[in-house]
Amino acid sequence: MHRAFALKLSSTLLLAALASLPARAQEAEGDAARGRTLFQRQCQFCHQVAQPRNGVGPTLQGVMGRAAAGVQGYNYSPALKGLDQSWTPDTLDAFLANPTGVARGTRMVQRVAAAQDRKDIIAFLAAP
Ligand code: HEC
Repeated sequence: MHRAFALKLSSTLLLAALASLPARAQEAEGDAARGRTLFQRQCQFCHQVAQPRNGVGPTLQGVMGRAAAGVQGYNYSPALKGLDQSWTPDTLDAFLANPTGVARGTRMVQRVAAAQDRKDIIAFLAAP
């Protein structure tokens, strides 16, 4: 191979590798696009995220950083009202893994068993 061409080729490959770095970092954080699909399948029946409208469950629009049981006008269970915490990636992860374990008596009973699924759903909720 011609030397100049080989150099150009390897720098192109290096650039391609660098360009893919942010995508990898995002994967470690959770894949919001995959989270959207999971949300549509597992949560949307009861929760809106694009609109501040409550359904069977409270709206999840702006849920990140919000106090638990913090939506005005939604009739929460005493269990959720008693949760003295805000929703962060960590508290959401624990809640989605085992809602009744975190808030015994909650009406939210949908569990998300797989850690990667929870990460992806949480990434989506953070930036829907
Ligand atoms: C069958 C209906 C139903 C499904 C499906 C469901 N939820 Fe819920 N969710 C609820 C109800 C009802 C509440 C309120 C619980 C209470 O008051 O005890 C709730 C509460 C919550 C809360 C607390 C909100 C707040 O304002 O404090 C979060 C977060 C949440 N759900 C996330 C999810 C996610 C993510 C999914 C999908 C993996 C999901 N839920 C699926 C019914 C559902």
